[in-house]
Amino acid sequence: MSLNDLTLDPNIMAEFNKVFASYGLDLARYKPAFIKRRLDRRMRILNISEYSKYLLTLRDDRKEFEEIFASLSINVTNFFRDSAVFDRFQLSILPKILSDLRDNKIRVWSAGCASGEEPYSIAMMFKQATEKISNLKVEIIANDVNKFAIEFAQRGIYPAKSVESLPVNVISNNFQQRNSADNNVEYEVISTIKNMVTFKVGDILSYAIQYFDVIFCRNVLIYYEKEAQELIFTKFYNGLKESGYLVLGMDETMFGRRCQKLFNPLMARERIYQKVLPQNN
Ligand SMILES: C[S@@+](CC[C@H](N)C(=O)[O-])C[C@H]1O[C@@H](n2cnc3c(N)ncnc32)[C@H](O)[C@@H]1O
Repeated sequence: MSLNDLTLDPNIMAEFNKVFASYGLDLARYKPAFIKRRLDRRMRILNISEYSKYLLTLRDDRKEFEEIFASLSINVTNFFRDSAVFDRFQLSILPKILSDLRDNKIRVWSAGCASGEEPYSIAMMFKQATEKISNLKVEIIANDVNKFAIEFAQRGIYPAKSVESLPVNVISNNFQQRNSADNNVEYEVISTIKNMVTFKVGDILSYAIQYFDVIFCRNVLIYYEKEAQELIFTKFYNGLKESGYLVLGMDETMFGRRCQKLFNPLMARERIYQKVLPQNN
């Protein structure tokens, strides 16, 4: 029997859940087919043919645990990912945020920020657009369940490959070139940008933070069950200021009638939504 034919028994799944929950990853939210694909892939590599045996391996082998944790939390990201979304945001949304501003602070949440490229890109975009406005503070909160990704993000040092497709002026305005211990060229995000971002380890649902002008939650909820997505969209609704904006990933949509009452698709192609005013609910 191949792994494809093997079903993931609910009792075993509950045991997997316990192992990951202690590290802040709630497997219950993910689509079961996604979890099975990820587990099967690791088991195939290790030549293990039973979930119960793999469970034992995970409990004993720290390296394997880190491997599957990374595979389940999928940290793939890059600077200005889907640059058309950033262009559109900068052109059409950012000026509106500035003109509607009621105090001297803009708050942005990068939810599921992986290794930091997204919140740093947001900081670079806002810095460029608001440089000439005095007394304006842009505060970006960025969180991820993966503590290794957050540690990497906090250092703010990236290999040359990560910045190679960025325009030259974006690199020169926002990064400092340096050499690594083994003499490779790398790029460190300048302190003005670093200081705009506060990184936190933790689950999106564990935060009770509010008054955001914008929430970016891109390529995070794609593997989530509909119920878990709805819970998080409701959290975002409550976390946004009146008429605040939500930006999802290019392959993500807001399903479900309940969610559609909370947000208007403002720019459907770029997945930019706006919070519906409470009286319209
Ligand atoms: C594919 S990356 C996306 C990174 C970035 N947002 C982007 O679009 O390039 C998804 C990230 O979401 C994180 N993640 C998944 N569920 C999460 C949750 N409930 N709370 C916080 N982070 C979560 C994962 O650990 C992973 O680093």
